[in-house]
Amino acid sequence: MSIMKSVNDFLAILANKLKGGGEKAIEKQKEKGKHTARERVEDLLLDRGSFLEIDLFVEHSVKDFGMDRKELAGDGVITGFGKVDDKPVAVFAQDFTVAGGSLGRAHSKKIVKVMDGSAEAGIPLIGINDSGGARIQEGVESLCGYGEIFFRNTRLSGVVPQISVILGPCAGGAVYSPALTDFVFVVDKISHMFITGPQVIKTVLGEEVSQEELGGAMTHAAITGNAHFYARSEPEAFETLKKLLSFLPPNSSRNPPVSKPIPPDSPLGDDVIPDNRRRAYCVKEIIRGIVDGSDFLEVHEHYARNIVVGFARLSGRSIGIVANQPRVLAGVLDVNASDKAARFIRFCDSFNIPLLTMVDTPGYLPGVDQEHAGVIRHGAKILYAYSEATVPKLTLIMRKAYGGAYIAMCSRHLGADFVASWPCGEIAVMGPEGAANIIFRKEIEAAEDQEACRQEKVREYEEKFANPYVAAKKGYIDTIIRSSETRDTLIKALSVVKQSRTGRSHGNMPL
Ligand code: HXC
Repeated sequence: MSIMKSVNDFLAILANKLKGGGEKAIEKQKEKGKHTARERVEDLLLDRGSFLEIDLFVEHSVKDFGMDRKELAGDGVITGFGKVDDKPVAVFAQDFTVAGGSLGRAHSKKIVKVMDGSAEAGIPLIGINDSGGARIQEGVESLCGYGEIFFRNTRLSGVVPQISVILGPCAGGAVYSPALTDFVFVVDKISHMFITGPQVIKTVLGEEVSQEELGGAMTHAAITGNAHFYARSEPEAFETLKKLLSFLPPNSSRNPPVSKPIPPDSPLGDDVIPDNRRRAYCVKEIIRGIVDGSDFLEVHEHYARNIVVGFARLSGRSIGIVANQPRVLAGVLDVNASDKAARFIRFCDSFNIPLLTMVDTPGYLPGVDQEHAGVIRHGAKILYAYSEATVPKLTLIMRKAYGGAYIAMCSRHLGADFVASWPCGEIAVMGPEGAANIIFRKEIEAAEDQEACRQEKVREYEEKFANPYVAAKKGYIDTIIRSSETRDTLIKALSVVKQSRTGRSHGNMPL
């Protein structure tokens, strides 16, 4: 028997391939609090024993600058298919212990193969990034590899869910693959993303900044918005990722899975909105009072907190929720909130997930900063995303729905299928105080007691305009309900409005 055909020799070759970058490199990886690529795929992400690895035997194709002296196990990336909660996914995980997980030609070809596999099978793609970037020794070959990956990220957008988990460095142009995917996970003290690192910034601009401050996990979760999910540890990130997948269909031609309906832990009563119109409250508590099992998976929790987006279920069906958050900046719409909401709406529309919009906002944020930051261009994205969306769209007006924000937050005029308001809904061109000061200015100025007159006019305006009845009389809102009836009403509405049209209509990239 030839030596290469003996099972024992095969097992020896296999063991060599499975050892990644070797003991020393693995030890270094562990010292940083990181798992190995194989542990991440086999132990933390996939159902036990479900991993079907491919291309373990691929060898790096460019042997120059001393690379021929090194054995690069799997060329620094592990690729294949497996199952999460019994549902198939495609996966790649860069192995930092092998040449710093750097991306060379064979490495990129392996990633491209599972990306194509995910498209053909119609299953989600999960990428685990832990890499020093383009493999310097392979020059233009590594750049080609990145280009081919970006191309596929874009073509797959809106076709299969794409999720990136950043578990180490992700620098230079490498950051654009995660940025093109639907959801990015980061982990405290482990993830670092930037176009140019602290050293280059110091050389070029003279600015000093730490790696953590520049591109650490919380920086991307809270400041840049590049990350959608922040976790304190690798296992926590993968647990959240699995939960996220449970809301999603495998591809845009299918509907999301349906679960057994569970009532909320503490259903809404009739006193959820404070009597005082100006008082803030937390919209997440209201969401939990409506959705199945009070279970809400928030997306972008730390970014643009004046708007809340995330996934939940209504009577077992996945829904995407977009809600103004009165507790932060009174729930105004600004540049970042507009981008956050628009991207989420586009994702839900791509993957047949009905939308529930919960409205309590005084409108778009005024000010020079916002105007110069492009609030016109960014604010328009919400209008575009809602108007474009063909999934079922339900809207609940909780309190303020003033001006442009009334229109933008999925009004009937942007194609909402069902609009309900609570009795305390206020639908008007602008808030009572501002409006009274403008339209009754002369009367207020002429009054003996100007403050008393102003208060009187505010009340008059509220009665006449800032209520849900004017819009309900005209049929712009379909019904006025008590807050305690919200869940039942939304479930009924969801079952009778038009159903989702499956099939890709657009990608997820913000406009
Ligand atoms: C080849 C690389 C590499 C790279 C790291 N290594 N990055 N090999 N190409 N890009 C190798 C190291 O030589 C080392 O090999 C091993 O990986 C581990 O790296 P260390 O430096 O020892 O690790 P650490 O101290 O943890 O530092 C990690 C790091 C650093 C911060 C990522 O390695 C680094 O700065 N790397 C270069 C990053 C970079 O500039 N990449 C190019 C970006 S430009 P040995 O054999 O010693 O173990 C780019 C363009 C893409 O990516 C454009 C796409 C459009």
